[in-house]
Amino acid sequence: MNAYEIPATVKAAAKEAYRKAYAPYSQFHVGAAALTTQGNIVQGCNVENASYGLTVCAERNCISNAVINGEQSFQMIVIYTEQDKLTPPCGACRQVIAEFFEQSAPVIAINHKNEQQVWSVAQLLPDAFTPKDLLDK
Ligand code: THU
Repeated sequence: MNAYEIPATVKAAAKEAYRKAYAPYSQFHVGAAALTTQGNIVQGCNVENASYGLTVCAERNCISNAVINGEQSFQMIVIYTEQDKLTPPCGACRQVIAEFFEQSAPVIAINHKNEQQVWSVAQLLPDAFTPKDLLDK
């Protein structure tokens, strides 16, 4: 997808979430912010664990945070890191994003240099297994 106009408030929220990351093992901090269909902003950061496999990524924490606050549909999600190479969502996060976002929704990686890369949900996870597959029995 082409360059995308991200509301400044969403960018700032992703950056703020980045600063709250708990990543003592990888030192790889990630912040995420999603704009809900209702126009609210929800945040998430990665939260690691001494039992490494229990780590939860910023994107999934962001979506869970929205759900607990009563929001289940989204316009976009922004992923903020301070890496020169922009950070794409991991496979697990792609599956969780596909659960709640339209196939055409933008997933946008940004960094401290104000660079950005945009993908649609469908680009990140083609032919995703989604709630529609369960309902279409
Ligand atoms: N991580 C995220 O939070 N989101 C991603 O999209 C990629 C990876 C986290 C998980 C772990 O805490 C750290 O980055 C290194 O993998």
